[in-house]
Amino acid sequence: MNTERSGRAAPGDRFAVGFTGGSGIAYGLRLVEVLLQEGHEVHLCATHAAGRVLVHEAGFQLDLQRPDLAGLFAAPLRQRLFVHALDAVEATPASGSAGLRATILCPCSMGTLARVAHGFSSNLVERAADVALKEGRPLLIVPRETPLSVLHLQNMLALAQMGAIVLPAMPGFYHRPTTVQELVDFVVGKILDRLRIEHTLTRRWQTPPKSPPPTSPYDEGETP
Ligand SMILES: Cc1cc2nc3c(=O)[nH]c(=O)nc-3n(C[C@H](O)[C@H](O)[C@H](O)COP(=O)(O)O)c2cc1C
Repeated sequence: MNTERSGRAAPGDRFAVGFTGGSGIAYGLRLVEVLLQEGHEVHLCATHAAGRVLVHEAGFQLDLQRPDLAGLFAAPLRQRLFVHALDAVEATPASGSAGLRATILCPCSMGTLARVAHGFSSNLVERAADVALKEGRPLLIVPRETPLSVLHLQNMLALAQMGAIVLPAMPGFYHRPTTVQELVDFVVGKILDRLRIEHTLTRRWQTPPKSPPPTSPYDEGETP
């Protein structure tokens, strides 16, 4: 690692990213893209369900026996991308000695969330999360589900109590997004903030000027 764990990330830092079967694979794809663009090393692993979500949400067809996840990213970025099979228990993210700066599950299904909260480590994604917890390294969970059951909430609480950062895929709207990309970037920007990675994906909030609020459609005679 190039930096102290408490400091800002520097190019060359290593991150583990797990794609799981929650909706919102666009968040994970954008996160990996930005990490690679910023010069970081990314160790990527996807669950089988994530492969299905990729088909449904991004139109990618993956051979689940030999998924070409690297093909999802522009060629110049792939140099620092390491894609691992789900059962590759000897891969870099499986060991605490690998010195990963952080592990991010994005998106995180309720199934993986539950298994991580209870230490199953039944595949490389879950093992990477387990390693982050035991090593006291940042673990970011980006859950996506609605509504949330008591079990989902309890699992999130358990992970938060263990030190994980639970960062739900909940874009804000105060920057007045007009595209899906802006909504995706809002969430990815929040992840990067927690990873202490500088970015310009979203505008920072500033004290609004003391002027009357802009008119809404209702001010122009429309009724709700
Ligand atoms: C298109 C699609 C969207 C899904 N969205 C979600 C979701 O938002 N949250 C969730 O917990 N599960 C969702 N699921 C179901 C999970 O993929 C499923 O529970 C799977 O077993 C999770 O496996 P994994 O944790 O190994 O990735 C979705 C499935 C599909 C096919």
